[in-house]
Amino acid sequence: MTVMTETDENRHRKNGLYREVSIELAENMKRGWADTERRDVEPIAQAVHTARRRKALSARFPGETLVVPAGRSKVRANDTAYPFRPASDYVYLSGDQSRDAVLVMEPDEPGGHRAAVYLLPRSDRGDGEFWLDYHGELWDGRRNSLAENEQRLGLLCCDVHALAGRLGAVTGPVRLLRGHDTGVEDALASKVSAEGDAEFRAFLSEMRLVKDDFEIADLRFACAATALGFEDVVRALGATTPTPERLIEGTFWTRARIEGNDVGYASVCAAGSHATTLHWVRNDGAASPGDLLLLDAGVETRDLYTADVTRTLPVDGRFTPVQREVYRAVYAAQEAGIAAVKPGAAYRDFHEAAQQVLAEHLAGWGLFGNRSAQEAYGLGLHRRWTLAGTGHMLGLDVHDCAKARTRTYVDGTLEPGMVLTVEPGLYFQSDDLTVPERYRGIGVRIEDDILVTEKGNENLSAGLPRQAEEVEAWMARIRG
Ligand code: GLY
Ligand code: MN
Ligand code: MN
Repeated sequence: MTVMTETDENRHRKNGLYREVSIELAENMKRGWADTERRDVEPIAQAVHTARRRKALSARFPGETLVVPAGRSKVRANDTAYPFRPASDYVYLSGDQSRDAVLVMEPDEPGGHRAAVYLLPRSDRGDGEFWLDYHGELWDGRRNSLAENEQRLGLLCCDVHALAGRLGAVTGPVRLLRGHDTGVEDALASKVSAEGDAEFRAFLSEMRLVKDDFEIADLRFACAATALGFEDVVRALGATTPTPERLIEGTFWTRARIEGNDVGYASVCAAGSHATTLHWVRNDGAASPGDLLLLDAGVETRDLYTADVTRTLPVDGRFTPVQREVYRAVYAAQEAGIAAVKPGAAYRDFHEAAQQVLAEHLAGWGLFGNRSAQEAYGLGLHRRWTLAGTGHMLGLDVHDCAKARTRTYVDGTLEPGMVLTVEPGLYFQSDDLTVPERYRGIGVRIEDDILVTEKGNENLSAGLPRQAEEVEAWMARIRG
């Protein structure tokens, strides 16, 4: 006898080849499964840090319910989803990476909050979700039980199916991190305000400006793994000529998947004049001897912190004289930028220091006509060839802390524990008639990840050489 038909429980696979499930099969699938509950689960290394972060958040918003969704997995087509990556603020506060989960912090007596993560429990063997739902455990793999997650994360874990009821019962002020879960946004629409949520979002971003020891260690690992990926690419450049940009992208991505979770952003694998396009991620060209390859790529760790590193490499291992000339200018600018990274410095200092050096070189090459470097710099004329700002905060997001208020970020002051990129570049478009022909089509960026320390700074990506002759020697060594 039929108990389920194509049009109900099996509807997610509309054109599945089985029309029905017999009572015998349904009953059969409920039984005979061993108890696999793990009773020896260790807390994640980050748990002490996430507890401290939640405490700081709690202190800032006493008496208010705080809601931070992980985000929903996005459907690509039918029952196929895009790879899921949880919202960074959710990860920062929970250490969890589940899809469709939500952190809820409810005010608790006598002050403070009671934090709970609402997430999917294990599949229930009794109702068929386990094996008939396309995202049941039989299809997607075992999930942690709620008890196991409580052990891992060090906080209360509840069945996400109870979330709607819980949110419906909330009284008093609520703050929601918007932009990740429209279901939660709809449920709370009448209880939140745009201004309140914007303030909440800014505070979350600003909490992440100064990294703790766990985050710094993870960023250090991300940089070390990224260095391995760059070495792999140097080997690939020597092995295949010309080297497709897609091969370069895939080579780096393979390393990212082995060492970490993924790449932290789409890799820029820009050969020849593609290097003059800041975000060249089409990667449909090829790198030939005589070209420069601008590779901007970062490994994202399994805890989801990312490196963001750029090296501009001579494909055949040796810079031409004009490539070296441009490279040295960018290197000098980066040196000046890095030297300006220290506690107490204005955040903007490293940018100003690097850009002024670039302007001086541009003036020396006659690109400002009769204007001095200072005058041209004041007018911003250098920006035709420098294009972007010199860097940004780095962490869980490649452009980290982006929702922080201007006065605490770009108009703020560097503190120990902040991590930022220093990434000056010069980009001479192929069709730029205002530069001598020899420069056209050359793009150079050098990007490193710099930790502000008590005494100054530490270059976390120093494992990769930057200076032109050291880059050449390093490439020669790798190729043997
Ligand atoms: N890779 C993006 C950036 O450098 O900002
Ligand atoms: Mn970059
Ligand atoms: Mn960057």
